Amino acid sequence: MSGNPLAVAEPWDLVAEGYAEFGSAIMQPFSARALEFASLSSGSQVVDVAAGPGTLSRLAAEQVALVEAIDFSESMIARLVEEADAAGLTNIRAQVGDGQDLPFESDRFDAGFSMFGLMFFPERAKGFAELFRVLRPGGTAVVSSWAPVADSPLMRMMFDALTAADPNFQEPQPNFLSLENPELFESEMRAAGFEAVSIQRHSIALSFADAEELWETMVRSSAPMELMRHSVGPEVWAQRAALMMRFLAEKYRPTSPLATTAYLGIGHKPKG
Ligand SMILES: C[S@@+](CC[C@H](N)C(=O)[O-])C[C@H]1O[C@@H](n2cnc3c(N)ncnc32)[C@H](O)[C@@H]1O
Repeated sequence: MSGNPLAVAEPWDLVAEGYAEFGSAIMQPFSARALEFASLSSGSQVVDVAAGPGTLSRLAAEQVALVEAIDFSESMIARLVEEADAAGLTNIRAQVGDGQDLPFESDRFDAGFSMFGLMFFPERAKGFAELFRVLRPGGTAVVSSWAPVADSPLMRMMFDALTAADPNFQEPQPNFLSLENPELFESEMRAAGFEAVSIQRHSIALSFADAEELWETMVRSSAPMELMRHSVGPEVWAQRAALMMRFLAEKYRPTSPLATTAYLGIGHKPKG
């Protein structure tokens, strides 16, 4: 078992509503970029693993015949269904399930994606192997993961705010055993059987009207923040929230862009 608190469904259930409202729009450019790497057509079938509220699923549904979306958080899947219904998208099938054990037949999908999802799996090798299994020969997989915090001023700002509020906060350290290491990312994809693997950096810049908007977006869409809020109780949270807000009000210049960077791993299932 992994010690990563984000490897289980509860924190994602807690954050699902805020993530759907605030996080999904921020993450959408990464999904749009991922879709560009798969040569999709109106007849394609794709799978979105760890789909969350459907950030990629909804974009893909406008381009393809069918999207199968799966996530282990019931609340995320509930939000995905609501959002798809609201958008009038009838070609997304959503279900609750584990990305390490996909309930789909082998050799089926033209493309498979896991955007900021597989990176959390306790057994990443299983996640890659399952994605590989369900692709048809010649199909394309795209998986994304965050680059190191040092490459993302937005994340730097968030972790600095957390440290300002709680000096005992353990900031994530560079982890060469995670997908933030592009060499490891590539070798894990190759080990699963993918060929012509490449790892591409993609950065986006986000700006916020003011520190308050940045704060609200951070708190509502971040699973680690939601976990902290629930674990410390309302009084301590109120104190920490005030300290974080003060920190952001000092450090963030309204409307200035903050970049955040991801790696996209692209691989193909051999044609056989
Ligand atoms: C940061 S969100 C990303 C959601 C979406 N793909 C996006 O790009 O906005 C991570 C998602 O991974 C899901 N997840 C994490 N581990 C999972 C697993 N083992 N099986 C299925 N879903 C998982 C979480 O429930 C959450 O919805």
